[in-house]
Amino acid sequence: MKMNRAMKQDRRGFLKVAATAALALSSLPFTMRSVGAANDKLKIGVVGSGRIGGTLGGVWVKAGHEVMFSSRTLENDKKLAASLGPNARAGTPREAAAFGDVLLIAVPYRALPEVGKDLASLIKGKVVIDTNNPISSRDGEIATWAREKGAGLASAELLPGARIVRAFNAIGYARMGAAREQQGGRIGMPMAGDDAKAIEVASRLIREIGYEPVLIGGLAMGKYLMPGTPLAGERTPEQIRQIAATLK
Ligand SMILES: NC(=O)c1ccc[n+]([C@@H]2O[C@H](COP(=O)([O-])OP(=O)(O)OC[C@H]3O[C@@H](n4cnc5c(N)ncnc54)[C@H](OP(=O)(O)O)[C@@H]3O)[C@@H](O)[C@H]2O)c1
Repeated sequence: MKMNRAMKQDRRGFLKVAATAALALSSLPFTMRSVGAANDKLKIGVVGSGRIGGTLGGVWVKAGHEVMFSSRTLENDKKLAASLGPNARAGTPREAAAFGDVLLIAVPYRALPEVGKDLASLIKGKVVIDTNNPISSRDGEIATWAREKGAGLASAELLPGARIVRAFNAIGYARMGAAREQQGGRIGMPMAGDDAKAIEVASRLIREIGYEPVLIGGLAMGKYLMPGTPLAGERTPEQIRQIAATLK
């Protein structure tokens, strides 16, 4: 693909961001318990075990991690966990947040303020993968606010103290469930975050689902990780890098 001068400059800017992130990653003091280190099995707490939480959690159980599923309906979580075997369990959102070294929060955006308040003391300092999309027709006013602020920065405000990385936002859940068997890293998964450890852990978990992680920038860039943006849908890692280089 031929690039014009503006695109080349953007691309240079992007490469600078990526290099800085890589440097931050390698120089970060290792202060957290073995989250994401080498091939350790992780404890993953899923808050919101619907289509996304149930699907991703299920693939991570198959990849050998321990996963606790939670929602406001414990019965559903128990059924889901029972169908996945001994590495899966069910609990309340507070139990899942306490259990997980890593949390996946996957709820309708309108539930995020309540989740943030209920779990406030438990999510501080934890890696949180934010799949949540503000959809005005479903989530109402909070979605309008979040879209104006940008979804990544809005999630950070609603989940204070968490080490947030935004990912799994704009590919359908059913494709995510099948990716591990079908595509082996050919499709990229754009992610945005400011926290090097969160980026590292999410990258590993993204690979285990079957995608190649592509960091597009800090949380402020999380506003592009939503349905209806140029990055939505399935793209190769190189296509994602090229599109991201044109976004600000
Ligand atoms: N579906 C997709 O393909 C897709 C793709 C990318 C991103 N996303 C985004 O990911 C998020 C989840 O989507 P989804 O499709 O998985 O939704 P979903 O199927 O409706 O599942 C939502 C889950 O959240 C739980 N929940 C709702 N309010 C809660 C609360 N206050 N505390 C704890 N759990 C709560 C629900 O169970 P209870 O009601 O029983 O509590 C349910 O388990 C959304 O923000 C969506 O926009 C979806």
